[in-house]
Parts: sequence; C-alpha cells; structure tokens
Amino acid sequence: MYIKKHKSWALPEHLATDEHVYLNRRQLLSRIGLAGAGLAASQLPFASALAAPITGFPAPQNDAYSLDRPLTMEEEATTYTNFYEFGSSKNIWRKAQKLVTDPWMVTIDGMVEEEMVLDAADLIKKMGSQEERLYRHRCVEAWAMAVPWTGIAMSELVRVARPQAGAKFIRMETFHNPAVARGQKQSWYPWPYVEGVTMEEAMNEMAFIGTGMYGKGLEKQNGAPLRCVLPWKYGFKGIKSIVKFTFTDQRPVSFWEQLASNEYGFWANVNPEIDHPRWSQATERMLGTNERLPTQLYNGYEAQVAGLYKDMDGLGDRLYR
Ligand code: MTE
Repeated sequence: MYIKKHKSWALPEHLATDEHVYLNRRQLLSRIGLAGAGLAASQLPFASALAAPITGFPAPQNDAYSLDRPLTMEEEATTYTNFYEFGSSKNIWRKAQKLVTDPWMVTIDGMVEEEMVLDAADLIKKMGSQEERLYRHRCVEAWAMAVPWTGIAMSELVRVARPQAGAKFIRMETFHNPAVARGQKQSWYPWPYVEGVTMEEAMNEMAFIGTGMYGKGLEKQNGAPLRCVLPWKYGFKGIKSIVKFTFTDQRPVSFWEQLASNEYGFWANVNPEIDHPRWSQATERMLGTNERLPTQLYNGYEAQVAGLYKDMDGLGDRLYR
C-alpha cells in the first residue's frame, strides 16, 4: 500500500492557531451577523483563516466500545479516503484541504418542533460530552479499518432536534460548493451527497455523530467538522461534512442509491453472505496490513443492531444492498 506522508503545512488548523485568536474571530463573525446567517462556511470570503471550532480532544474513551483487532495506523486512515466531492481517487486528502470548516452552519429542519441553524461547535455543545469509541469500519469495496472515533451518540442529536411524533427518517446532506470541491462539477453525480437512516437506527446506541479521530478533530478528508458513523453498515452510509439534518416521514433516497440502487441500497447492512453484484463480500482487506479477515454479519455488531430488523424478514437481500 502506498502511504503519503503529511506535509508540515497540512497541520490541522486547530493545532496551528491559539484558542484566544480563534475565539476572537468567532466573536467577530457573530457580531457582523455571519454566524447564524445560514451561509455555508465555504461561501465566506475570509473564512480560510479560521480554526476548527470543535474542542474537547482527546475525549475519554468509552470502554463499552472496544475491538478485537489492532487500530489502523492514523496515516493510513487519513490518506486513503473516499470523498467523491474532491474526486474519485483514494488520495484526495490534499484537495480536501481547500474545504473551510469554521464556521460551519448546520440546519436542522423538517418535522421538528422548531427549525434551527447553528454552528457545528454549538450543536456539539448542545449534544453533550464527547467520547472516544473504537469501531470497525467496513467499506462496500471490501476494505476495512479499525478506527478510534471521537463524537457523541446520534440519539443526542435527536434529543436536541425535538422531532415531531410523525418523523420516521433523518435525511442528511453534505455541503454543495463546486468551486471548492471540484468533483461536484461532474454533473452525472446527483450532488449534494445525501444519506438517511430510520429514527430507530438513529436512536440505536451504535449510531454516532463523529467529530474526531485518533484523539483530534476530524481531518477535512475524513468529513470535518461532523459526519455520521454507522459501524454496522457499509461505509457509504457514513456521510461526511454534514450541513443539514431533515426529519421527515418520507424515506430519503441516498446519493449512491440514485446512481445504482441494485448495488447500493438504502439499508446497506454488512453481510458476508450477500455479495455485491460485482464482487464477493465474504472477506475484507485490512488497510495497512492487507490482512484478509472474514466479514462479520452487521460488521460484528449483531447483538446491538439485529433487533432493528427483526420484523423485516420479507425484505430478503434488500436489507444488505
Ligand atoms: N460522504 C461524502 N459526503 N462523500 C463521499 O464520497 N464516501 C463514503 C462515506 N461518506 C463519501 C462520504 C464512503 S464510500 C466511505 S467508505 C466512507 O465515507 C469513507 O470514510 P473515510 O474516508 O473516512 O474512511
């Protein structure tokens, strides 16, 4: 495996900027009315000088979520990434540095008591204390990692959002800014990237809003400043750099489902017995070591999540694509 070394100039901004400098910039933004204006961070003309806003790293590890395998090297997890907004190769981490992630406005709308637009840091603060969890991470392409994520249970997002009784799904959306993310100039993709979960999935203990990895804030290429982490599903469900959560009674149609619903369905639960139409899912290749391991049902989280699907037997293999 070819590993790219990080250059010194690619330091995460939060490591390079004093906290008081960053706080003053944030105060300035709110005074001139940009924070809360619903602008995508990348639309701001001078925002590239700002630091990553979410603090609290490293967070205490929650021992309830540990692993049977060594962690993937950080270098590997941050340089072999899927982020089609920046191109379809795995080593787009350099291109992703153009993304401005502070400030980062997030909208919560749809079937909620009160719609809100707030900065990612404020949303995380409202959700509660961050923790570290070690999770398996399995891409539909049959590579896998073991990642120490930082974040907060997705159920806390639901609590903050105060959904109406009729809400059944959460639709999540990534930013859309082709000037920064040049992959979004490729008009055959249905931008912006969209994903969705049922309310029951969002409330499951495993569903996680990721804000960091390896004891630090998320790298841009891994979906800064916040992303979804659903370890029992194929990685494409783990939408990056989220700008909107919409509570709805309609099942969202996700990005990959729009492109090829027979290959990348809504449920996408990991299952070694249901092959992708073009390759086997029986084993997975660990990034870094290239070790081949048997794929596990629900990626090893059957005890935690199988109950979500117990009344859905009639779906057959659609649960997995
Ligand atoms: N989110 C967005 N917005 N764009 C993407 O291209 N790729 C998905 C998912 N989230 C993707 C995305 C896929 S296919 C995978 S496997 C995971 O992100 C990869 O996460 P990682 O690069 O942090 O390992």
